[in-house]
Amino acid sequence: MAGFVCMRRLVRINSNRVLFLNVHKCKREIRTFFANSVNYKEAEGDNSNLSPELTSRLTLLYRRRRSLSPLERISGLLPQDALSPEVMQLRDLNETETTAETELLETRLIQEDCGPREDDLDTLEDPETPGVHSHVTFEEEESCPSVPGERLLGFGELLVAEYSKKRRVEFKKLFQLQSGARLMGNWGFIQHNDIVGKRAGQFLKTGRGVSILVRRASLEDYVLLMRRGPAIAYPKDAATMLMMMDVTEGDCVLESGSGSGAMSLFLSRAVGSKGCVISVEIREDHHKRAVLNYNGWRRAWSVRRGEEWPDNVQFHNADLCTASPLLSGQGFHAAALDLIHPHLALPALTPHLHPGAVCAIYLANITQVTDLLEGLRCLELPLLCERIIEVPVRDWTVAPALQKDGSYCIRKPPVLPGDEQAEAAVVTSNQERTTGSRPDFGSVPYIARPHPEQMSHTAFLVKLRKCVL
Ligand SMILES: C[S@@+](CC[C@H](N)C(=O)[O-])C[C@H]1O[C@@H](n2cnc3c(N)ncnc32)[C@H](O)[C@@H]1O
Repeated sequence: MAGFVCMRRLVRINSNRVLFLNVHKCKREIRTFFANSVNYKEAEGDNSNLSPELTSRLTLLYRRRRSLSPLERISGLLPQDALSPEVMQLRDLNETETTAETELLETRLIQEDCGPREDDLDTLEDPETPGVHSHVTFEEEESCPSVPGERLLGFGELLVAEYSKKRRVEFKKLFQLQSGARLMGNWGFIQHNDIVGKRAGQFLKTGRGVSILVRRASLEDYVLLMRRGPAIAYPKDAATMLMMMDVTEGDCVLESGSGSGAMSLFLSRAVGSKGCVISVEIREDHHKRAVLNYNGWRRAWSVRRGEEWPDNVQFHNADLCTASPLLSGQGFHAAALDLIHPHLALPALTPHLHPGAVCAIYLANITQVTDLLEGLRCLELPLLCERIIEVPVRDWTVAPALQKDGSYCIRKPPVLPGDEQAEAAVVTSNQERTTGSRPDFGSVPYIARPHPEQMSHTAFLVKLRKCVL
């Protein structure tokens, strides 16, 4: 009961809970090309090059780490966004003080810090709390543009905070830079006011020693991390559809359904200010979500670039199957369909496609593809199916191999049996090369293999071309 009362005191029900849930949802969707340095031992089972004495002192040190305080235990069980800033600050202080001694000793033992130890990162954005100060320290204190055309980060921009650990992006958060708000996690927090005016692509080191990369969100980041209604067309597939349709600046393209607005944004960028996109969505809630996401990106863009993103998408809340009146008088250079029964919508759309134009269709299941082809066979529409494809993307890990202490591994040339002199020379030269801060070109082995986590199937893409019979 006492624990329950204590927990209730610690919890501050937060309206940003949805952000926490979204982060967890997004975590599963993070797929990146990993190019950080990797630990050779973990991969190859090589022996440590630390001395036995140093290894045993480190083992002792890790064993001596203190047990958790009641505050840490209870707050660790709760969603991080439910903790009040005061509790977060107390917990930070507590941990900083009690681990300071251990960390100092550890730093002395291993000179090169191999990275942060925090295992889990969550985040929420909160209004500023008076008296609570950000622990952030900037690796580059003074910010001024150094490249022609460079713009410093401004309020209203859409940014991504990224934390990498052991070869992988552990945490990726999309946020809008707002005065008084803050980015928060187990690593401490960063005041948005401390980010504004800085350069994009900067590492911010928190007081707890965690490096967070803060950069501008790409359109790909935005569509993957923005709030969703239905599932989006994945960027790899959207890019291939744009290629299939050969969308060019100035084109007029029909899209349906609008869904969450991801494809609408890619189309909007492809057709540019001289082109237009007609986006048709049957569900009102999805239609509204698509409009919100589109406008969210446009607003942030004008702050980022100081110029408007083209206002070139007309969103309509309608059923494409019965949208002939809406389409009357229109001609399309291409069409992109992402809806459950595309063959039902093709009779309304096909008359408005330019002869020779392409309609690219996104379908999750192969049974939908056969339904589509069967529909085409029965409808006798002037549409040829040119291709049915999947777009596989395979992530790889490619990085210099590292020892446990963070130093580079060194390639070992073969030595003929009995040639002790050559063997001794190799050992000496390896020692020399390892002690130097940057081993010679070609002397470091690399880890290079497909990443164990891969994106699974997303969609089949069908390319239909309107022909003249
Ligand atoms: C998977 S979502 C599309 C996602 C979108 N491509 C994106 O990237 O965000 C499919 C959408 O098609 C809509 N839809 C289904 N049938 C439709 C129809 N006959 N006319 C218009 N929209 C339709 C659904 O309501 C749903 O929002």
